[in-house]
Amino acid sequence: ILQQLRQDLDAAQDSKQLEQVRIKYLGRKGLITTLAKSTDFSRLSPEEKRSFGQRLNTLKSEAERLLAEAAARIQALEKDRVRRIAGLDLSLPSIDRRMGSIHPIALVQMELEEIFQGMGFRVLTGYEVELEYYNFDALNIPPDHPARDMQDTFWLENGMLLRTHTSANQVRALETYGVPLRAIFPGRCFRNEAIDASHENTFYQLEGLLVDRDISVAHLIAVMKTLLSQVFRREVTVRLRPGFFPFVEPGFELDVQCLICGGKGCSTCKQTGWIELIPCGLVHPKVLEYGRVDPQVYSGFAFGMGLTRLAMMKYGIPDIRLFNSGDIRFYEQFPAAF
Ligand code: PHE
Repeated sequence: ILQQLRQDLDAAQDSKQLEQVRIKYLGRKGLITTLAKSTDFSRLSPEEKRSFGQRLNTLKSEAERLLAEAAARIQALEKDRVRRIAGLDLSLPSIDRRMGSIHPIALVQMELEEIFQGMGFRVLTGYEVELEYYNFDALNIPPDHPARDMQDTFWLENGMLLRTHTSANQVRALETYGVPLRAIFPGRCFRNEAIDASHENTFYQLEGLLVDRDISVAHLIAVMKTLLSQVFRREVTVRLRPGFFPFVEPGFELDVQCLICGGKGCSTCKQTGWIELIPCGLVHPKVLEYGRVDPQVYSGFAFGMGLTRLAMMKYGIPDIRLFNSGDIRFYEQFPAAF
């Protein structure tokens, strides 16, 4: 009987089948039950009674033990089945799990996206692998420009490149969306530079482009001031210095008065009272033409800020190396959700 029971139990795959096995052996009309009931004890001698009774008891308890064992196996099996169906690992701890934090670069990016969306800009990202055309030619960057140097650009074997700036999105967006256009382009950029305390070969920029009728430097300044006072949650003082980029005319470097010392001079602003934050300018007519936009009718501004310096200013981060340090004590200071 036990051997047969073992076979039946091995075949049972769920608790229903298991219950049927139990009934077959230990139910009211089960094999073992019937065996005990159908025995006419009165016809046995006392020794026979004792030994038969003992064997019957052993049989019963062994059967019960086997059933319990099988029940445990089947329970585990069924848990596993549920888990797989639900796509969940129910064995994972559910309480007291430590949440990760949002990286400060991602955090400023999210905040900037929200601010710009509030001003009617759409958020686009473009491609990290770009054509030379969009990264350079269409931005009026001549073939002999030093920025194209093998030193600075990561070239791919197929002739494409890793974008060296988010400005590569400008003409693409004009082609795709036309004018009027208001868009920002956050994303990773790459330059083949030696890494040191303040240089990385991978960095994050956020490009902005606004093209419409009669756009002037005044619009550029207004948007930049709005943006910066929202990011830093206070009024900021800015100044423009001339800056040269082939794809803007005029081009500027927008500085913000140092938020640490208020312009008096400190180590963050290298005693100058100002922090160079946003290269920008009015979109060069040639760039508009590359984007199939008539520069006689339309004008626009563009800017491209590095997210690293912005994050350092906003959160008071003293050393650029902290960003990629892997030091949990640094990351922990930032929120887990935006
Ligand atoms: N693309 C330039 C850079 O990476 C920044 C820039 C963007 C300048 C837009 C002017 C206008 O340095």
